Amino acid sequence: MTSSDPTAMPPCDFTVVGATGDLALRKLLPAMYHREVEGQLAPESRVIGVSRSEHTDESYRAIARAALEQHVADRDPVVVDRLLARLHYLSLDASTGDDWHLLHGLLKESTAPGTVRVFYLAVAPAMFGPICERLDEAGCVDATSRVVMEKPIGTDLASAHAVNDAVGAVFEEHQIYRIDHYLGKESVQNLLVTRFANTFLEPLWNSRWVDHVQITVSETLGVGTRGGYYDTSGALRDMVQNHLLQLLCLTAMEPPTYVGSESVRDEKLKVLQALKPMSPEDVDRDTVRGRYGQGLVAGEAVPSYTEDLGRPGSATETYVAIRAEVQNWRWAGVPFYLRTGKRMDRKLSEIVVVFKEPPHAMFPHHEGVQTPNRLHIQVQPDEGMRLHMTAKEPGPGGFRFKPVSLDLSYASAFDARMPDAYERLLMDVVRGNPTLFMRRDEVEAAWSWVEPILQRWAVTAERPKRYPAGTSGPFAAAALLERDGRHWQESDLD
Ligand code: BG6
Repeated sequence: MTSSDPTAMPPCDFTVVGATGDLALRKLLPAMYHREVEGQLAPESRVIGVSRSEHTDESYRAIARAALEQHVADRDPVVVDRLLARLHYLSLDASTGDDWHLLHGLLKESTAPGTVRVFYLAVAPAMFGPICERLDEAGCVDATSRVVMEKPIGTDLASAHAVNDAVGAVFEEHQIYRIDHYLGKESVQNLLVTRFANTFLEPLWNSRWVDHVQITVSETLGVGTRGGYYDTSGALRDMVQNHLLQLLCLTAMEPPTYVGSESVRDEKLKVLQALKPMSPEDVDRDTVRGRYGQGLVAGEAVPSYTEDLGRPGSATETYVAIRAEVQNWRWAGVPFYLRTGKRMDRKLSEIVVVFKEPPHAMFPHHEGVQTPNRLHIQVQPDEGMRLHMTAKEPGPGGFRFKPVSLDLSYASAFDARMPDAYERLLMDVVRGNPTLFMRRDEVEAAWSWVEPILQRWAVTAERPKRYPAGTSGPFAAAALLERDGRHWQESDLD
């Protein structure tokens, strides 16, 4: 067995639109390289790069080689050459219909029976509809074709509808793969396995035993060169509408009947539909917007968001904290606190399930503190889980309580390379498994929940609260939990 599903793939023509962009070079080609190492790509499979820049096959291969050198450690030159030999390139402009027949011509050259055509749109969402139209007009789309879209799907509910309608005019829903790369992360998939391939958690996984849940995705990086996109998006659209809500769904959903595309996605949709809608008063009370100022990250002075952006007037948030509730039988009354931010004190994606206090204090004369049990599910880095418990410190004469933890570290439990999320997701597209992709109704349900927050923020026009770069966010985010008599689990030692 290899580190990920080694099933041999059907032959495919994998067209990447936006082939010279950051995503293609930093994520998609390295993911393909690792699949090539595993021998998972059929000999006839090709990768066709498409973008507006003028390149030949050879000059694009040189760009791809440089990208692999930059983003893949310990490369095998034979495997690199094998992957590069699969690469073709076409310079096409989606804003005009010119020359798209060239792509059709290239696709028709494929002689391997059952070749799957994948069109990966690694471009801005405004281009999704026009590109699908071009593909259709040029006759590139057949019954085997699949289209892959990166988030964000739209910037609000109406624009998400419009994108989904435009893409849906060319591709059937079962041919559309909407990527949320968090779903491809090993530790996120392991959440499904932990919950549903074991029995001990399930009886405790409800409002009777769980006090609250915290979901944190914090990054140390700022917006870097993505300011143009980010400033029109902000943390709510960039992270909460997709990654954080997907983590919430997998944490809160009911057991699906089986782990297959519709069953899992049906259950996630039910969670999104059960999220308590936010009234304007709820938004004022239960959400916090922040934005990083200058500060120190890992001992290095970094500029503020507006300095990164080069524009002082921006009102975009780089941090969000939200108190959400899932209004159903299982979770009634259990707050789900979500937070995400850029330029924080550390990179950490984590789900923490905090259990209730024991119902009865049985140790009146103990020493030491008894803290509630907590399950930390660390998505990244150092993927793993820790269950925090209280134990008796050995020794005679009474009970001395000591916090201890049961640790499952992926690195020590498995002697395997941790594949990047895109490796799994790209192969799932080729093998036709949409389980880890977002269905249209999920994306739209997520926008429906997020939209009142966006609307209220626009009405109040309150500026995001400043937090110094390299900290854990604005004070108001701490106050959000303190109000409920709780606190963020800032570190495992809390
Ligand atoms: C992307 C966001 O979807 O996820 C970025 O657009 C963010 O702003 C990134 O930095 C985080 O992904 P990861 O895998 O590094 O946690």
